[in-house]
Amino acid sequence: MRLAMAAAVSGLALMAGWAAAGETPSQADAKAQALLEQMTQDEKIGLLHGPMLALVQRSKRPDGIVIGAGYIAGVPRLGIPALTETDASLGVSNLNNQRPGDVATALPSGLAVASSWDPEVAYRGGAMIGAEARAKGFNVMLAGGVNLVRDPRGGRNFEYLGEDPLLAGRLVGRSIAGVQSNHIVATIKHFAMNDQETGRNVLSVTMAEAPMRESDLLAFQIGIETGDPGSVMCGYNRVNGVYACENPFLLNDVLRRDWGFKGWVMSDWGAVHSTEALVHGLDQQSGDQLDLKKYFSTSLEEEIAQGRIPQVAVDTAVRRIVRTLFARGVIDNPAIPGDSIDYDAHAAVAQATAEAGMVLLRNERNVLPLAATAKRIAVIGGHADIGVLSGGGSSQVTPVGGFALVVKRPGAGASSFASRSYGPSSPLAALRAARSDATVEFNDGHDPVAAAALAHDADVAIVFVEKWATEAEDAKDLALEDGQDALIAAVAAANSRTIVVLETGNAVSMPWRDQVQGILAAWFPGQRGGEAIARVLTGAVNPSGRLPITFPASEKQLPNPMLPGGDAQLADEETRAVYGIQAGLKPFDVSYPEGSDVGYRWFAKTGARPLYAFGYGLSYTRFRYDGLNVADGDTLRVRFTVTNTGDREGSDVPQLYVSRNGRTKRLIGWDKPTLKPGESREVTVTADPRVIGDFDAKAQRWVVPAGDYRVEVGASAEDVALAGTAHLGRQALKP
Ligand code: BGC
Repeated sequence: MRLAMAAAVSGLALMAGWAAAGETPSQADAKAQALLEQMTQDEKIGLLHGPMLALVQRSKRPDGIVIGAGYIAGVPRLGIPALTETDASLGVSNLNNQRPGDVATALPSGLAVASSWDPEVAYRGGAMIGAEARAKGFNVMLAGGVNLVRDPRGGRNFEYLGEDPLLAGRLVGRSIAGVQSNHIVATIKHFAMNDQETGRNVLSVTMAEAPMRESDLLAFQIGIETGDPGSVMCGYNRVNGVYACENPFLLNDVLRRDWGFKGWVMSDWGAVHSTEALVHGLDQQSGDQLDLKKYFSTSLEEEIAQGRIPQVAVDTAVRRIVRTLFARGVIDNPAIPGDSIDYDAHAAVAQATAEAGMVLLRNERNVLPLAATAKRIAVIGGHADIGVLSGGGSSQVTPVGGFALVVKRPGAGASSFASRSYGPSSPLAALRAARSDATVEFNDGHDPVAAAALAHDADVAIVFVEKWATEAEDAKDLALEDGQDALIAAVAAANSRTIVVLETGNAVSMPWRDQVQGILAAWFPGQRGGEAIARVLTGAVNPSGRLPITFPASEKQLPNPMLPGGDAQLADEETRAVYGIQAGLKPFDVSYPEGSDVGYRWFAKTGARPLYAFGYGLSYTRFRYDGLNVADGDTLRVRFTVTNTGDREGSDVPQLYVSRNGRTKRLIGWDKPTLKPGESREVTVTADPRVIGDFDAKAQRWVVPAGDYRVEVGASAEDVALAGTAHLGRQALKP
């Protein structure tokens, strides 16, 4: 009975998604089938692969096609448009200036979106970047990165949505729904376990099914249920020895059989290693010049001719692609390049996202918001006079206004994988505009002595520090580079009222924490990051972001104190042939000892005290929680009241964690009420059984064992403001 109900509910959610975007599932199926029957074999195979257009000679590129990360020829005679694909989750990228001079609105990083803990912030950001993609002529956006943050050195963590599967899954789902509200396809990625960059093309994650289902896979599952993306991108890595893009367990069993995914699976760029991948669940080879072979064109034709790949595999993949284009509205509402874009309105969305995602980590003696009496303000370091930092790699957006500064790595080209780029939004200029009653002076921080001298003469000193992150590379540790720790220490020694603003793509270590009064995590804050930072510092915005990742006190606390693969050697020729890989590292296995106890769960299990806990963040007001009410029965339902006990309006993120004997705490829900001083709100959270339960791999179902569950309400994973116990009956649910 319960099983049936769960299936009906998720079925309804899917229906709603289809109806909002395009044809109903059965109409889409019927139309796709009708087209399939009219297609030649060449036309079918044409839909299953495509190049990275930027790498195709200009004279050989199709006319009138916008250049992005990927291109799949359509079937014009049947009204199937070419697929024009662009990166990514933080806006429409323009990798290596492939569309000369083209700019787009830069959303703050995924970690900023996640710090908002607000699904509607994610939706609005998705809707905004999707509108730009569409207006530029793209009908597929490679947006929807949701790999879990397992290690704070991960180079792409900034693109993703944190360490918790429920938070990340809900937010990515809403962001996908936003993108797809523009009648284009969004792509959840990188499926699955592509949780680090070191050795990403060769590593194999060794993990049992249950912990995978309860962590990374759950984030994808919730994201797909919530957002109903048209496509899934499989990752570079291997999982239990099998490449993710030819992994029947992931693609056929989990994604399609268990989750009922009806869209298509595209490969990551350079992630295909065989033609059999088609039979194992991959539908499309993206950026096919990057692989060793044209597995889904030349090789596919040969394999079909020799009877090694059945025709039905081709037809199935084509049907999935075409039906998705109908279902998402791509065919009926084609994206036509040239629609105008309201960049001011979009910048406002980016700014609101940044403001919602800033996390105030420390505020001793209420050093923030800046007091009206602070008339001499020293701003130091971090290129705060120029702009704000962004992350590198395929997600890099060339912001409206162009980059304010690009710092190339010595010896490297101008690729966004190798240069630190700053958006044109100067925190210094924004602070000066907001505090025209004060003198705001700048020092670039290169000389700590000069910086300290400026700080000494000021009422308050604000030090901007940064740690760049990029796709294809992990950080070697958590430390700020280039003497920035020493800079902060020097400034703090000169002025006790020192505030640090972090522009980072990850958690960082803070040896100077106790010497400063204020710390604000601004992440990579996007198109109007400078303005957003200034508004939080001056108090125009009351910070309400909460950490979506744990900040460890040191690498020693991590499940893998040494990043896996850091010592891997380069692969020799023989190994490359065996694994079907090009130049790069020798394949290696990765074990993540935390299993499903990612992030705060690992800290709860080991008893280690982090620097800042998951869920943590301060406000300029205060909140009280009381009136805990925990219902017993089949479903875990918890009520409590949040009251703003301070003297200004603010939004809070009360969080609910549940644990039971032998099982570490897990986030089961949260809310984000905005309350005036003195105002109270009752919050109700109903648990998703998959979060409180276990995945039983043998029985292939989720099981919530009968028994006592400890319920904690607090302002972070470490904070317990209210506690109670729920007595639950046993439940079992389909996977
Ligand atoms: C990245 C993907 C991206 C693709 C196309 C790959 O290197 O992993 O996230 O969508 O390139 O640019």
